[in-house]
Amino acid sequence: MTNKFKYFIANWKMYGDVNSIKSINRVLKFVNLNKKKKFKIIYCPPYTLLHPFSKILKNTKVDLGAQNCHTELEYGAFTGGINSKMIKNLGAKYIIIGHSENRAAGDTDSAINKKIYSALKSNLSVIFCIGETLSQKRKKLTNTILKSQIINGLRSLKTNKKIILAYEPVWSIGSGIIPKNSELLKNILFIKKILKKISMLKNTKILYGGSVNPKNIKVLNNIDELDGYLIGGASQNSKKLIDIVKKTFN
Ligand code: PGA
Repeated sequence: MTNKFKYFIANWKMYGDVNSIKSINRVLKFVNLNKKKKFKIIYCPPYTLLHPFSKILKNTKVDLGAQNCHTELEYGAFTGGINSKMIKNLGAKYIIIGHSENRAAGDTDSAINKKIYSALKSNLSVIFCIGETLSQKRKKLTNTILKSQIINGLRSLKTNKKIILAYEPVWSIGSGIIPKNSELLKNILFIKKILKKISMLKNTKILYGGSVNPKNIKVLNNIDELDGYLIGGASQNSKKLIDIVKKTFN
């Protein structure tokens, strides 16, 4: 049970088609019935569903986000590219940047920094993902990795007002394994320390992501430092998503 405002970001990854959208009606109904509770659900569907989602989410309390964008802020000859302006134009307010699946596909810290810069210029709020891999954790490199991802990702930014940081240990994503609370808390406190060092702690929300589900949410909720969750697999199932929110507040 919490009194704190919580974010629940539904990251649909490369799943879903126009027929899957109706499944969110259940969530919209739930949100409507729980207007007084202090939470925000943000759907981040694939690019192809941003427009239909923006139509269905119009005039609701649920917000829209994208999962990535091109590094270029301006329009240009970048076949297959989608920039932050286009995403904003479709009605999105948020964007996930730096997800480990995109880092693994080639997104460097410097590209991530450019994407964040571009997203902020387009007036989007950024869900900035960081996290260590299993091999980095085993080599006791977690702090080094988190520090360099934060410093390089947020380099030269003038403001952190629209930054939400999501700590996602790569080994937790899609594995069903979550860190022990003691380990998670230690890493969250370390992240806060680094943010403080670069004067970006104030206003920065901190989320956890990686195998969040209705079964482990109560355990995760014991960490008061968290401002919410980035949810992959479980978020495609409306009942599970609602359960996660319910268990956070009851
Ligand atoms: P998961 O994904 O909840 O399926 O582990 C989380 C994420 O990758 O954002």
